[in-house]
Amino acid sequence: MISKKIEAALNKQVESEAISSQIYLAMASWVETQGLTGTCQFLYKHSDEERLHMLKLIRFLNERGRHGIVPQVKQPFKTFESLSAVFRQILEHEIHVTQEINNIISLCLQEKDYTTHNFMQYYVAEQIEEERVAKSILDKLNLIGDDKGGLYLFDRDMQNFPLQDGNQAEQGTKAG
Ligand code: FEO
Repeated sequence: MISKKIEAALNKQVESEAISSQIYLAMASWVETQGLTGTCQFLYKHSDEERLHMLKLIRFLNERGRHGIVPQVKQPFKTFESLSAVFRQILEHEIHVTQEINNIISLCLQEKDYTTHNFMQYYVAEQIEEERVAKSILDKLNLIGDDKGGLYLFDRDMQNFPLQDGNQAEQGTKAG
């Protein structure tokens, strides 16, 4: 069984992943209203992926003799300044989430909880990937600038942007 301290930290992360899922969902919905049908699909899929991150934590807590708590989540922003602003926010948000994951890793080492430490490696790898993806998309948008033709092609490419396989989250406690 994991300690109360680790349980609280993981439940805090459950909340963080739920917030992430809501943020991506709000972004997807706004982007869709702007006619960016490829980019909105990327964001909808990413929202689902964040939900799976949350689910994986809940399942782990329950399998380790504790209780994963479904949090109340406040409403995210409804509208955004621009597509670049959306991806700037995503990058900042993911950097923040990486810090949260690092804090849990530190706590695991402090508590000598090597099982949770091992489980959390999935999140460490996810964060590296998510920061890389957000940064590379933002770089592309910066290159495109105000070029409408460039934006059209960007949006078309985003429809098939490969995301990590979120199904890993359904494998319960296995570090993916
Ligand atoms: Fe679940 Fe975007 O980190």
